[in-house]
Amino acid sequence: MTDAQIIDGKTLSEALRAEVAAEVAELRRAHGLQPGLAVVLVGQDAASEIYVRAKGEHSRAAGMHSVTHRLPADASQHELLALVADLNADPLIHGILVQLPLPKGLDERQVLAAIDPDKDVDGLHVVNAGRLASGQPALTPCTPLGCMIMLRETLGDLGGRRAVVVGRSVLVGRPVAQLLLQADCTVTIAHSRTRDLQAVCREADILVAAVGRPRMIKASWIKPGATVIDVGINRVPFDDPEKAAQGKTKVVGDVAFKEALGVAGHITPVPGGVGLMTVACLLKNTVTAAKRIAGIED
Ligand code: GUN
Repeated sequence: MTDAQIIDGKTLSEALRAEVAAEVAELRRAHGLQPGLAVVLVGQDAASEIYVRAKGEHSRAAGMHSVTHRLPADASQHELLALVADLNADPLIHGILVQLPLPKGLDERQVLAAIDPDKDVDGLHVVNAGRLASGQPALTPCTPLGCMIMLRETLGDLGGRRAVVVGRSVLVGRPVAQLLLQADCTVTIAHSRTRDLQAVCREADILVAAVGRPRMIKASWIKPGATVIDVGINRVPFDDPEKAAQGKTKVVGDVAFKEALGVAGHITPVPGGVGLMTVACLLKNTVTAAKRIAGIED
């Protein structure tokens, strides 16, 4: 059997960002509307710093109004909620994202609940989760949206396919399962308590791995020809003992990529796959939010 085809996140995310930039330019020209994104970072988590910088750079490159608010790690819940309230009321801002995880002591759930659902470009407010689950127009979490764009680009119509999502997180597993259901897949959500997980995975025409465990999903778990979407971003020591001894790490997915290549039909790499789609989808959600707030038809 020939190797799986790689689903290229770089090409797809660049195309999506270009599409968003064109739409922003048109909104500015035709309606005088510049979509605005506010990103809030509390504390100095190193990974979050990188993500937040990318969100600011890409939103500016797409022609959006973009602001980043940085609060110190010892900011109070009250301060954070006051900032969210200001952003909710700011007419120049259409999308609000509070980068997670928040430092210890801050109540994540209360902060997410305080964001205006119509500006919740992360799709994490319970109102948006409820809208998504009941099939109403919702702002959808960015990584799941990215997974769906990759699947549609790869397979076209998804109707009738068996999809297995491994992982039940609020950020990825649950919403991606809802989106697959909306696309007429037959969906199973598997998780740490699933019996015979390997056999469940082998049923999948579409396998979405979102567990956060490096290389957990082996080639023998994959149905020959299946489409594999790897959402995992896990830091591990290098295989090369010399590099590992220097404390160097690299990023791998939840799927044992090299061996999976010999079985899957299509597969996303890590890095270079789903991760790149997330920011592009955030920009797309910000445009969607701006249009809905302004009453402009899709
Ligand atoms: N941290 C890691 N992923 C995400 C995400 O999608 N949204 C937010 N707000 N924080 C994150």
